[in-house]
Amino acid sequence: MTSTIFSEIKEELNKGINEYGHPFRFFTLGTLSANNSPRLRTVVFRDFSENWNISFFTDKRSQKVIDIDKNNKVSSLFYHPEKRIQLHIEGTAHLVKNEKIINKHWNQTPEEAKKDYTTSLAPGSCIENQTEIEYLNEENHFCIITIEINTIEYLRLDKPNHAKIKYTKKGNEWKNDFLVP
Ligand SMILES: Cc1cc2nc3c(=O)[nH]c(=O)nc-3n(C[C@H](O)[C@H](O)[C@H](O)COP(=O)(O)O)c2cc1C
Repeated sequence: MTSTIFSEIKEELNKGINEYGHPFRFFTLGTLSANNSPRLRTVVFRDFSENWNISFFTDKRSQKVIDIDKNNKVSSLFYHPEKRIQLHIEGTAHLVKNEKIINKHWNQTPEEAKKDYTTSLAPGSCIENQTEIEYLNEENHFCIITIEINTIEYLRLDKPNHAKIKYTKKGNEWKNDFLVP
């Protein structure tokens, strides 16, 4: 049964990347700031690799990158309202350094979306009004963050029982534990 669920998790994560409108297209990312305050935000789920790494794009100057630089343990939350499935994924985040991969994704990014990574001021900087935003012409602050998954906690609300399973990655193997939902 857990292998069926595990396959379902993989399938739904793949759909999050490939299917327009799939609820896993977005996930909530949690980091811990230097002063130990937890911070959450929505990001677009961009890539899911064969070895279970998940990736998103962001601005190198953003708070989440500052947080990850100090503490790369992150939490991610995915929710599928129709299937009533929640995935709580924990892992270790890394800034992708491979220029070829970065350039490939940057070149595939639509021009309008590139603006998200080219504001003159860093994201979160105070401005006088919303029309004051200036963009860089030549430079960008685009980066890719990859999360190496350590654990996936699967929860499905169901009748007569809810189901909760924790999958832990050890090398290339996964072990599973049933949990009280
Ligand atoms: C639907 C939606 C999708 C978003 N996708 C991203 C994303 O892929 N990458 C990103 O850096 N910010 C994304 N954001 C903005 C973040 O939620 C967040 O406000 C921003 O990145 C600043 O976060 P930080 O200051 O904690 O780093 C998205 C926001 C929304 C509402």
